[in-house]
Amino acid sequence: MKKLLLAISALLIMHSAKADEGMWIPSLIGKNYEEMKRLGLKLTKEDLYSINKASLKDAIIQFAGGCTGEMISPKGLLLTNHHCGYGAIAALSSVEKNYLDNGYWAKSMSEELPAKGITALFLQNITDVTAQINTAVGTAKGEEAAKLLAAEIKKLEKAATVEGKIMADVKEYFNGNQYLLLTYKKYTDVRFVAAPPKALGKYGGDTDNWMWPRHTSDFSIFRVYADKDNEPAAFSKDNVPFTPKKFLPISIKGNKEKDYAMIMGYPGRTNRYEVSYGIDLAINETNPAIVDIRTERLAIMKKHMDANKAVYLQNTSRYASIANYWKYFIGQTEQLKRLNVVGQKAEEEKVFTAWSTKTNAGYNTLLADYEKMYAAYKPVAKQMYYYSEAFRTTAIARIGAAGEPLRAALKKGLGKDSIDFYVKSLTAARKAILTDYNMAMDKELFAAMTKMYYKNVDKNQLPSIFSQEILADRGTQGVNETIDDYTDYMYRRTAMLDDKKYDAFVSNISWNTVNAEPAIRYAASFVHNYEKNLLPVAMTMSKQKKDLSKQYTKGLMEMKKGQLFYPDANSTMRTSYGQVLAYAPQDGVYYKHYTTFDGLMAKYKAGDDEFDLPQQLLDMYKAKDYGRYADADGSLHTCFITNNDITGGNSGSPVMNAKGELIGTAFDGNWEAMSGDIAFDKQYKRTIVADVRFILYLIEKMGGAHNLIAEMDIRK
Ligand code: ARG
Repeated sequence: MKKLLLAISALLIMHSAKADEGMWIPSLIGKNYEEMKRLGLKLTKEDLYSINKASLKDAIIQFAGGCTGEMISPKGLLLTNHHCGYGAIAALSSVEKNYLDNGYWAKSMSEELPAKGITALFLQNITDVTAQINTAVGTAKGEEAAKLLAAEIKKLEKAATVEGKIMADVKEYFNGNQYLLLTYKKYTDVRFVAAPPKALGKYGGDTDNWMWPRHTSDFSIFRVYADKDNEPAAFSKDNVPFTPKKFLPISIKGNKEKDYAMIMGYPGRTNRYEVSYGIDLAINETNPAIVDIRTERLAIMKKHMDANKAVYLQNTSRYASIANYWKYFIGQTEQLKRLNVVGQKAEEEKVFTAWSTKTNAGYNTLLADYEKMYAAYKPVAKQMYYYSEAFRTTAIARIGAAGEPLRAALKKGLGKDSIDFYVKSLTAARKAILTDYNMAMDKELFAAMTKMYYKNVDKNQLPSIFSQEILADRGTQGVNETIDDYTDYMYRRTAMLDDKKYDAFVSNISWNTVNAEPAIRYAASFVHNYEKNLLPVAMTMSKQKKDLSKQYTKGLMEMKKGQLFYPDANSTMRTSYGQVLAYAPQDGVYYKHYTTFDGLMAKYKAGDDEFDLPQQLLDMYKAKDYGRYADADGSLHTCFITNNDITGGNSGSPVMNAKGELIGTAFDGNWEAMSGDIAFDKQYKRTIVADVRFILYLIEKMGGAHNLIAEMDIRK
């Protein structure tokens, strides 16, 4: 009995309303509002989200498709993380003008640099369309239901779209139990305004990433531009700074532990309704595979980047994102084990099945179905990642894969039009893949990835090219030496890497020439193996999982009727509320809720990759001129933590106080709760925030960008 009670209370913690846990839909914040007020919120519901007047939601944007940003001035000034602007800053940098390493501070609008490809998405409205969708799908099942659903979504989106002005997107919530239609305005003229040197924006590098205590000032600043009517427009020098409906005032008053803290942003993906069997598979099969592959990739990339600044600038953004999730998966695995999440989930699942059996709710075999589903997927799970993470790493493999449809078309004897079409698409893909290409690095990666694939994938599942070509006739030579020889042959013989050779290849397309092209031969074997042996199993699993998780979520909501639920993150705007809060990471250890400039200096290591600092900052530290940015205790705070519920995609989100004033920008989670995307741990889960006072201090004293400070509404 006691065990059952414990299990039930664990279940309640997992999914029901709690101040800290939950990524709430801003338009449906309703029932949480009383609790937000109890915790200290001073705003009205309409201040948070309104379609009739300017509200907080109008100051929050999705930045560059995968991050969050916020408006901090009436002239479209946008604050986000340094790691969100990283790719754009690196792309704007050169060995001579290295904004990434040296920082950049635009002193006037004419110095703001167009950031190609960066977008800012402003949410307009959210409408519940579940009823329309349910009516359209009716009692249909399986393929038929999927077709009707897709058609209805298309129809709803089309009806809400205004060409060139309003974008519409229907999204699934609660694993398909609810559908919302979201409309947006998408601004594409976004310009880079300011960033500190990388040494500060990424201080602590991979060593400190996903960790508290932290001293990174992870911010960068952009500006949104619009046409004369304040509407989205492609880059033009005639565009003007965008006027937001709402921008956030900034508070430099500082915060104490237990102060109200609230975040709005665009969390990407959580998997909080995942079951024990799926987590078990991640811990034992897929996470270790991802980590092994990335460890190898990162070491090779680093070697080449360290040797050449231009190679570094070309690859550093990709390197950072591979490294970010390399460490993420190490941490997630460690914490899933430490917190016994499989055991916790298994208990909840037992309770659920027992409830269903007792009440005849209709879910008696649901968890058994999950178990069967994962058992059927398990044999291919690891290779799915070897395919996407190892095989598809190199340019040569990706170009080869882009040539596979051409090879298949020639084999089938298709006509000239089709062949021309496939040649064209290969040419386009090749061009995109070879942007910022480095042959020496690619070649070393190719050898390493091919070896790993052979070594770690079950021998009876390997693409046939291993036995038929790569390792055929190797006599007594070892596998590694043979793959090295094959690599030399590949890079010597392929026509894909050299423009002249490629033109000659294109001018002489036939089955014989295409089939003899080593990159295409290599990739075709992997692609065929994937399409024949892996993909069908993965697709079956993913369809079943969709269906089962819809039922499981529905069942849990029935079992706990009357409680508030929040849906998994799905890259749409959410609100999380809680407090500034310290924590104890382990027995006998206590972590304060903030860090300081003194602590930043204590980590300083001259000449280090991750902990070096610019001379200017060392001088600033000596001068101790913190001005109005100093805390009441006299120190200058660098970062702080809250118990808000966020995940990847929230990066750059505003952290706001009870009055909705900006107090920092969220940029990370902590090591002890890396299992958070699967299970929120109330005791350990924290959000790491760059204190806005340190950000302003750098803008003013390091950048001397008084022009930017003057635009903001700074309050004490
Ligand atoms: N872990 C952070 C996130 O995913 C990114 C931090 C970037 N810094 C770094 N050293 N990679 O939001």
